[in-house]
Amino acid sequence: MKKVVVTREVFKETIDFLVDHFEVVPNQEDRLFDQQELFDRISDAEGIQTAGSDLVNDKFLDAAPQLKIIANTAVGYNNIDVQACSRRGVVVTNTPGVLDECVADYAIGLMISASRRIGEGERYLRAGQWKAMYLKQMLGLDINGATLGLIGFGRIGQAIARRAKGFGMRVLYHTRSRVSESVERQLKATQVDKRHLLQQSDVVMLILPYAKDTHHLIGEQELQLMKSKSVLVNIARGGIVDDKALIKALKQKTIFAAGLDVYEGEPQLDPEFLELENVVLSPHIGSASEPTRRAMAMTAAKNLVAFLANGDKPINLVRPN
Ligand code: DGY
Repeated sequence: MKKVVVTREVFKETIDFLVDHFEVVPNQEDRLFDQQELFDRISDAEGIQTAGSDLVNDKFLDAAPQLKIIANTAVGYNNIDVQACSRRGVVVTNTPGVLDECVADYAIGLMISASRRIGEGERYLRAGQWKAMYLKQMLGLDINGATLGLIGFGRIGQAIARRAKGFGMRVLYHTRSRVSESVERQLKATQVDKRHLLQQSDVVMLILPYAKDTHHLIGEQELQLMKSKSVLVNIARGGIVDDKALIKALKQKTIFAAGLDVYEGEPQLDPEFLELENVVLSPHIGSASEPTRRAMAMTAAKNLVAFLANGDKPINLVRPN
């Protein structure tokens, strides 16, 4: 039987499904292996179900000479050197489609939390500082009627735009290629260049993949273009924002607030973020609802079975750029 390694804990039904097709090496204790332990586990694996936090590079691939497929349990795959996989004939798959609505919900949550100071309010209350209610207490920004600028307008971006319509928001988007006119009409969304989007938006939201050309897409210059009463939301990937530049903007209040689910170098994050009141911080949980995480794990497993057990085309093939 072909051997499949699952690097992190998944739901029981995913292991049960894989066991019907493969010799499975699970990690249901969710141990964090050191590099050598992990490399020993994958030494004779033909398939690996990775987590978004696993780094798949040449060294990793050297350790798994029989490998045929990496099934990443995430839609993003910047943790995987797809070119290196392709050079060795290793197929890469991801989990698109099953997390769009869940991530869109979360994006709206971060947008409202940052604009209406929800985290700050809770800290204030828990610290016993709330003595009275008064008119000018914790004034935030309105979401209703505001302009939302989406950088990235794929499935998740469009799911966010659908929700924004319900808040009466005007939607601008910036992408390399324009979406169809019918989608624009349906979502009341207008394509604009990046500069225009940054200058016009009350909320700038990032929902695009991380790649060399999106590294520090939002840096000091871009933050300077944003309105002083605007909010930046990053639910995409760390590294798209220059975190040092963002900290400076938040400290100097050249923007109002930020809502962040991802960071440069995560799970480490710049400790200066922790000292700021005007940023809402969460630990990369945009897709972390139970049904969605179940669906992601099963999607990855189905890719393994389709390709490695059934000899079919992988369902969610990632192509090298
Ligand atoms: C993804 O699927 O890429 C999300 O960021 C969750 O890891």
